[in-house]
Amino acid sequence: MADVKADPKKLHIKTYGCQMNVYDSERMAEAMGAEGYVLTDSPEGADMVLLNTCHIREKASEKLYSDLGRLRAFKEINPDLKIGVAGCVAQAEGAEIQRRMPLVDMVVGPQSYHRLPAMVRAADRGEKTVDTDFPAEDKFDHLPDRPSANTRPTAFLTVQEGCDKFCAFCVVPYTRGAEVSRPVERILTEAGKLVAKGVREVTLLGQNVNGYHGAAEGGTWGLAQLVRALARIEGLERIRYTTSHPNDMAEDLIAAHGEEPKLMPYLHLPVQSGSDKILKAMNRKHTAEEYLRLIERIRAARPDMLLSGDFIVGFPGETDEDHRATLDLIEAVGYGMAYSFKYSARPGTPAADRAPVDGAVADARLQELQALITRQQREVQQGMVGREVGVLIEKQGRMPGQWTGKSDYLHAVHITAPELRPGQLVRARITESGPNSLAGVLI
Ligand code: 5AD
Ligand code: SF4
Repeated sequence: MADVKADPKKLHIKTYGCQMNVYDSERMAEAMGAEGYVLTDSPEGADMVLLNTCHIREKASEKLYSDLGRLRAFKEINPDLKIGVAGCVAQAEGAEIQRRMPLVDMVVGPQSYHRLPAMVRAADRGEKTVDTDFPAEDKFDHLPDRPSANTRPTAFLTVQEGCDKFCAFCVVPYTRGAEVSRPVERILTEAGKLVAKGVREVTLLGQNVNGYHGAAEGGTWGLAQLVRALARIEGLERIRYTTSHPNDMAEDLIAAHGEEPKLMPYLHLPVQSGSDKILKAMNRKHTAEEYLRLIERIRAARPDMLLSGDFIVGFPGETDEDHRATLDLIEAVGYGMAYSFKYSARPGTPAADRAPVDGAVADARLQELQALITRQQREVQQGMVGREVGVLIEKQGRMPGQWTGKSDYLHAVHITAPELRPGQLVRARITESGPNSLAGVLI
């Protein structure tokens, strides 16, 4: 047979939204790699463009349509260009996307990524496809192994998907479906392979990750058991997980934070509001006081735990008093980091038809809350100066001889020491705190 190899086809993927989408994009790139596609940084000259979308807030999903508008010019130059929409907007809007934007060839929901290669082949035949099923099988079963070219020392690893919590504002239970946990054995195998390729830190991903309940030999394991098993993998130095719900913070998981040195002292534990009335209206199923007591128990197990959170301001019915309660809760916790959002009504969610808070009032509340968070963040960073921390070196810094990595507490740390290499876990003393990062010296 003649060995005539065409140039590899080029695939451009744009990822919006959360870390789970980053992970999914990588897996889709691998699946398409098996079909002969290589990644390219720009839609220019690409044979296929995949937009992996986010539906969490209105602004996030609107981006899809403006980006699709821009892709029209590329499709005019190259009529063979395949355009696919993946992720949560694909799940939520399905065929509606193609009605609005006929240039889209494929619409594929997050549970159907293993069918992407077949959809691309259909597109090659000129067929348009939509797949937003929630199939019974594990989509990861049908995706190829990760390639060996992984040079980064950190990786995401999805252990759980979907959410059964139904917070009144949130689309995730509808776009990602019911909670499903991957079996323990598969996660351990994937982690082992990552470590063999040089990964030193894994972040376990799940929309409700601490609700993990995966099948294991002899029963079902929770997240704490999974973490302890992962910690026994030689060469894996650090374990993180995100995102957690306060009500699923089990006793054994809290204990693991005190006992398992590889489990990092950083916990993203969104509370959304500090007002009991709003928490109830949000269907969060706990009070502000219960959240604060939980934080106390976590800090009793791991006193240096750095906490991060998510907040929504301007949820329907939120008064100045409710907003003040949120600020009080933030003061009481002392976050090292937090994300805050103005409430965005999402069609199909229970809160969508409740009377909205005045936009300007919500803007002012968001500013006030963000100013408080920024102050806390600075204080926590400043408090790191003089402390000794672990730093996992990731990449070269901007200065000559400088390297950048993440501390145990997820702060970016710059260290000037030319001999360092990516993947090295070093001890450093923090010497300085800047606006977005720390500086340190090797010990
Ligand atoms: N409006 C604003 N913020 C939202 N989030 C989720 N849904 C909405 C919404 N409708 C925020 C929550 C969640 C984070 C991922 O996004 O704070 O924790
Ligand atoms: Fe959405 Fe998180 Fe609530 Fe689930 S727990 S509904 S993902 S905000």
